[in-house]
Amino acid sequence: MFNRIPTDVILNSRNLLASAIFVETGTYHAEGAIWASGHFGQVVTIEIDRGLWNSCQDRLPANVTSLWGDSARVLQEVLESNPRTSYILWLDAHWCGNGTGSGATECPLLAELKSLSKHSAPWIAIIDDARYFLSSPPRPHKPEDWPSLDDIVRIVPHSGAIGGRDDFLVVCSHQEHASRLFRETAVKTINKTDINEI
Ligand SMILES: C[S@@+](CC[C@H](N)C(=O)[O-])C[C@H]1O[C@@H](n2cnc3c(N)ncnc32)[C@H](O)[C@@H]1O
Repeated sequence: MFNRIPTDVILNSRNLLASAIFVETGTYHAEGAIWASGHFGQVVTIEIDRGLWNSCQDRLPANVTSLWGDSARVLQEVLESNPRTSYILWLDAHWCGNGTGSGATECPLLAELKSLSKHSAPWIAIIDDARYFLSSPPRPHKPEDWPSLDDIVRIVPHSGAIGGRDDFLVVCSHQEHASRLFRETAVKTINKTDINEI
């Protein structure tokens, strides 16, 4: 799963939001959090499965805060406790087979984006598994738990923008960040007209 992290987009985002905290939802084996710890001053990772959370505590660098719980709730708490802080987020929490966890819904993305839409400082969120928002994942996933791309686009702040590349989406709270980031990383802007044509 780690090899899918779009490191170029994350590092370009860091150049735009210089003092941002990096947040990952869905720690799994902490490979993403450990990678991010080498590039950000402060990293927060959130995992719902107690066994997975326990298993990586000994391996995490000192600049990683590892939180146990449902990112639908815990991300909101993190954002509310640092209202003036900018964030770069890797939104990757979802059930993905035996040995992984799930909250009330298999994919907490809409709740995560709702919390972000209320955050007053700039943020950039990179969302994994874009294919599952274009076409729901097959069983044994719960397809009904996955939002559509249309649902996601509706939550994008009016001041912001959404784009996509490969198998991920990028949502920016501010259009000026998206303009530069998307140009530098070949992310294609998505607008409502595009969605109606899919
Ligand atoms: C695809 S894996 C994450 C991979 C990891 N981000 C990486 O890049 O290596 C998804 C993880 O999300 C966790 N998860 C599922 N629902 C969650 C939720 N509501 N809150 C937090 N973690 C969740 C699963 O237990 C699983 O470990």
